[in-house]
Amino acid sequence: MMSTIEGKNDKPRRGAEFDLDGRVAMITGGAGGIGLELAKGLARYGADVILCDIREEPLAAAAHTIAADWGVRAAHRRLDITKKAEIEAVVASAAAELGHIDILVNSAGINIPQIAEEVSEEAWDKVLDINLKGSFFCCQAVGRLMIAQKSGKIINVSSQAGTVGLIRRSAYCASKGGMDQMTRVLAVEWAKHNVNVNSLAPTFLLTPLTQKMFEEKEFKDYVDANILLPRLATTDDLVGAAVFLASRASDMVTGAVLHVDGGWTAH
Ligand SMILES: NC(=O)c1ccc[n+]([C@@H]2O[C@H](COP(=O)([O-])OP(=O)(O)OC[C@H]3O[C@@H](n4cnc5c(N)ncnc54)[C@H](O)[C@@H]3O)[C@@H](O)[C@H]2O)c1
Repeated sequence: MMSTIEGKNDKPRRGAEFDLDGRVAMITGGAGGIGLELAKGLARYGADVILCDIREEPLAAAAHTIAADWGVRAAHRRLDITKKAEIEAVVASAAAELGHIDILVNSAGINIPQIAEEVSEEAWDKVLDINLKGSFFCCQAVGRLMIAQKSGKIINVSSQAGTVGLIRRSAYCASKGGMDQMTRVLAVEWAKHNVNVNSLAPTFLLTPLTQKMFEEKEFKDYVDANILLPRLATTDDLVGAAVFLASRASDMVTGAVLHVDGGWTAH
């Protein structure tokens, strides 16, 4: 005879290790694209957020929506991450306003696609300044607070471009490869302070950054051919990975590059 046993207990609910209640997350590039989607995702799991971006105008509305939708605190700051003094001032004022910063998501980034023989010095400097140098000094400013509080989670939004070569992206690939190496060094230096530093490396997703590229058939075919799973990736596909890296579920994970690339870098 078959019978169903019904269990009852008071054990913590499944998923509690992903709870971000009471944590404060600072997100660069938070005005749109991946940064905003990750901010919403972290807020959905309970985190208060500080949205930072060089584009000030969309920030206030985004912060209001996040606070209303998820019942969390949402602050916003205009921040140009190429300005070290500005980073330090924003981090100090945001930490004072929200009490602490537990999670840093470095999502601000740009790409200027050009074949290598045509890359200008100006374009090279701009990509490296924002993607690599700016992200490093955000890690440094927030990392100092995390070291003092003996805990923290840093998520550097890198790219599959940090792992494989992609045409027309010499500066971009260099910046993301550099970011992954920066992740490893910070992980090594800050492990003793209980600060986890990881890279989140997406494949191409449809965002304002890539909208124009996806309009070209040749580019879309190239992406379709290299993502092995049978669909394109969306910003939604990054949320679970970011929540994992931001939460206590990843307490023993540091220095990792988590590819969310549908298998692109596996072949
Ligand atoms: N979209 C993709 O296919 C894709 C794939 C892999 C990795 N990425 C990475 O994800 C990150 C986010 O990309 P996205 O697709 O959301 O792009 P996006 O253009 O939609 O968002 C980037 C944000 O960064 C901000 N920003 C640019 N320069 C800044 C500066 N100096 N200071 C502060 N903010 C600045 C922009 O205003 C923008 O809101 C980037 O680092 C990008 O390299 C994107």
